[in-house]
Amino acid sequence: MIARRRAPGKLPIMTPSAPQGFNDALERWNERFSQPGYLFGLEPNAFLVKQSERLRPRSRVLCVADGEGRNSTWLAAQGHEVTAFDLSPVAVQKARALAAERGLSIDYHVAGTDTWDWAAEQYDAVAAIFIQFAPPAQRPALFAGMWRALKPGGLLLIQGYAPKQLEYGTGGPGRLDHLYTADLLRELLPQAQWLELAEHEAVLAEGSGHRGRSALIDAVARKA
Ligand SMILES: C[S@@+](CC[C@H](N)C(=O)[O-])C[C@H]1O[C@@H](n2cnc3c(N)ncnc32)[C@H](O)[C@@H]1O
Repeated sequence: MIARRRAPGKLPIMTPSAPQGFNDALERWNERFSQPGYLFGLEPNAFLVKQSERLRPRSRVLCVADGEGRNSTWLAAQGHEVTAFDLSPVAVQKARALAAERGLSIDYHVAGTDTWDWAAEQYDAVAAIFIQFAPPAQRPALFAGMWRALKPGGLLLIQGYAPKQLEYGTGGPGRLDHLYTADLLRELLPQAQWLELAEHEAVLAEGSGHRGRSALIDAVARKA
């Protein structure tokens, strides 16, 4: 079923009905992305840039919950073959426009993580950059899906907020049960070979959405 919503000052946007339990999230993210500019900026995530040195040329990469396209467009500009999806059609529309402006071809989709087809062994890398919307009960299925989608030898690149982020309040879901620890990630991905798994602090300047001192966790998991 298709519903129509009007973003302020914009043409009506076709919005797919939200999967069960995500109605609030869909509205909230559409509204945030309907503001002028780019909520998390136009520059790619610095962790992703650094870790992408591990990728072979022309890797197949999936960007999960990619938002307005800052990461997918950067990866495609490096020559990778990129597929990306996000729950918010407003965000995906902006990402598509950004890719067109930059002359890049990216396979974009509007989808939630619970409806995405996590077909096995499709990607050399899966980028999961600040995707902490999943409550604890839904996290195992999400991580199992991302893991399944990796080819043998593929890399899952994760950056998220760690529990201390609640003290900083400079971005993220603001709920302890959505934040990651190294132990939690080890538990979610018991088969992983960890190339990186570290909690640390840094000052982020990613648009207005992630700004200031932040408690982060960086993880790179390799599928054997
Ligand atoms: C903090 S933003 C990060 C966006 C992007 N990864 C980045 O780093 O710029 C979280 C993103 O998750 C998306 N999202 C929220 N719930 C989702 C779901 N169930 N499935 C897919 N995407 C979702 C939001 O629309 C938003 O774009």
